[in-house]
Amino acid sequence: MDNEMEIKGKILFTQQQIWERAKELGYQISKDYEGEELIVLGTLKGAIIWMGDILKNLTLDTKIDFVSASSYGSGITSSGVVKITKDIDMDLFHKNILIIEDIIDTGTTLKFLKDYIAERNPKSVKICTLLDKPSRRKADIKGDYVGFTVDDLFVIGYGLDYDQKYRNLPYVSYLEG
Ligand code: IMP
Ligand code: MG
Repeated sequence: MDNEMEIKGKILFTQQQIWERAKELGYQISKDYEGEELIVLGTLKGAIIWMGDILKNLTLDTKIDFVSASSYGSGITSSGVVKITKDIDMDLFHKNILIIEDIIDTGTTLKFLKDYIAERNPKSVKICTLLDKPSRRKADIKGDYVGFTVDDLFVIGYGLDYDQKYRNLPYVSYLEG
């Protein structure tokens, strides 16, 4: 029988650390967009928990939306094709868009998403990511607001999955192997 209190993997960031970081970034974002409206665009499914933390720390007029993009083909080739599997519902024209992502790895997905959003002529587009794994970057993409930088490890928890599991873990950990 599974022990529900069992820790999965080695913990990198606890819920408390992540919340403290969300407070710092939320304060920064609120200052940067002061007096402006912000559309907070979460990338399904990985970003939802981090998105909640960020949202709770914003003192701005916000609207939220979601998008889901999947990359097909081999994840280790730079020519990975990205497809939108759940489109953006809102009109982005002349709006400030803050994309919330779980992790930037090769950057392929976000590069595609940023270009896709740019076609709708928003006022601005920035990225807020819980984690950044710069060592594997292929596309020219950087996070404007980064929670934490991680080494080249496969991380799970706080929205991040392994084979769709472990998204609910209240911490970020990594699987050894
Ligand atoms: P990218 O297009 O290579 O930047 O891929 C980004 C996506 O790959 C993220 O949004 C995650 O869904 C997934 N991903 C990348 N690295 C990890 C990881 O270490 N754990 C879980 N998912 C990951
Ligand atoms: Mg993702």
